[in-house]
Amino acid sequence: MAVQINPSILSADFARLADEAQAVKGADWLHVDVMDNHFVPNLTLGVPIVESLRKATDIPLDCHLMIEDPDRWAPQYAEAGAGSVTFHAEAAAAPVRLAREIRHQGARASMALKPATPIEPFEDLLPELDMLLIMTVEPGFGGQAFLDIMLPKIRRTRELISRHGLQLWLQVDGGVSATTIERCAEAGADVFVAGSAVYGMEDPAAAVRGLRAQAEKATAAAPWACGH
Ligand code: DX5
Ligand code: ZN
Repeated sequence: MAVQINPSILSADFARLADEAQAVKGADWLHVDVMDNHFVPNLTLGVPIVESLRKATDIPLDCHLMIEDPDRWAPQYAEAGAGSVTFHAEAAAAPVRLAREIRHQGARASMALKPATPIEPFEDLLPELDMLLIMTVEPGFGGQAFLDIMLPKIRRTRELISRHGLQLWLQVDGGVSATTIERCAEAGADVFVAGSAVYGMEDPAAAVRGLRAQAEKATAAAPWACGH
């Protein structure tokens, strides 16, 4: 699977979202962080903004739901036109049913793990998912420092994906930048979310290209990607 770079609009100007989507031409997905002030101590946006954003850009939307009760709310994001919907494992009551519902609505189904949540209990669920998101910061805010202690979890998840021969994408989110992206790629990630490392730059589209080049180079040299 090719490297994918997903700029996070959490670091964009919320009053100019359509322009900010334009500013990252060449990005694979636009990462949309939905926060409810309960699951995380921050509040961002909901379904109406996702609907508007979908009409304002051709870049598909990768909705990361940091919300409680995703079983109730997540399918609405798929209905609103998100191409991928990520719910948190810690918040979902019935992750298999929820993933099936998201897929039924026509979106890719994805599950996220906070830093303290291990991957191992979810091994048998992986075939139900299109993507697994490993948080590399505590969710809630952009601009935090990358947690190197998450690299072993990325490695173990990549091993599970290979062992079971799955087509699962492995996303990392939080503190991904020119300094840290190569470590993530080397450990096994193939989808990279970057907020401040894209929108904090003078030329966000150039930042996307730079991150992609670094990730591609690191992937080509990574043992896990041999034969891919
Ligand atoms: C954090 C969000 C991230 C955030 C990443 O809870 O899920 O998507 O935007 O921002 P950076 O890349 O600045 O760490
Ligand atoms: Zn996110």
